[in-house]
Amino acid sequence: MADQRRFELFAELVTRTFPAARAAFDIAGGQGRLNQALTARGLEVLTFDKRWKREAVRYAERLFTLAEPCTCDLLVGMHPDGATRIIVEYAAQHRVPFAIVPCCSDNGMSYKPWMRHLGELGTTLGLEIAEDELPMRGRARVLLGRPR
Ligand SMILES: C[S@@+](CC[C@H](N)C(=O)[O-])C[C@H]1O[C@@H](n2cnc3c(N)ncnc32)[C@H](O)[C@@H]1O
Repeated sequence: MADQRRFELFAELVTRTFPAARAAFDIAGGQGRLNQALTARGLEVLTFDKRWKREAVRYAERLFTLAEPCTCDLLVGMHPDGATRIIVEYAAQHRVPFAIVPCCSDNGMSYKPWMRHLGELGTTLGLEIAEDELPMRGRARVLLGRPR
């Protein structure tokens, strides 16, 4: 069971790490609770996912792809599953920073190799990669990317 504090903890880290960010895409945002937490901290947030049962937040009810026009200055993803790699690739393509809390891989890799792989992917695509960690149970490592 994922830690229920994850949205507030991640929103806090995101706003501390990227204080200049104004407009975020929240990828694989589920019911929109990270959106709520970031919106409460002053960001304009658009969540991409397919949940019809959700909070009253700005929401694009579709899967996020590399074809999505870029109208954000930050990408975030909490346990974004199959969208994780896309976030790294999209950030590199549009030269915007990202913050993600990866969980499951899209190719059967276990957690540690998956984290390493995502970091290497970001570096290869021209991003400066760093790590942080949320003070919570479960998948809590945060991968951060900034255009070099
Ligand atoms: C483990 S859930 C996490 C949901 C939410 N972030 C949370 O922490 O509760 C993974 C979510 O990824 C979404 N997802 C997977 N691929 C996606 C994509 N390409 N675009 C948008 N959402 C995607 C699924 O629909 C699902 O809601």
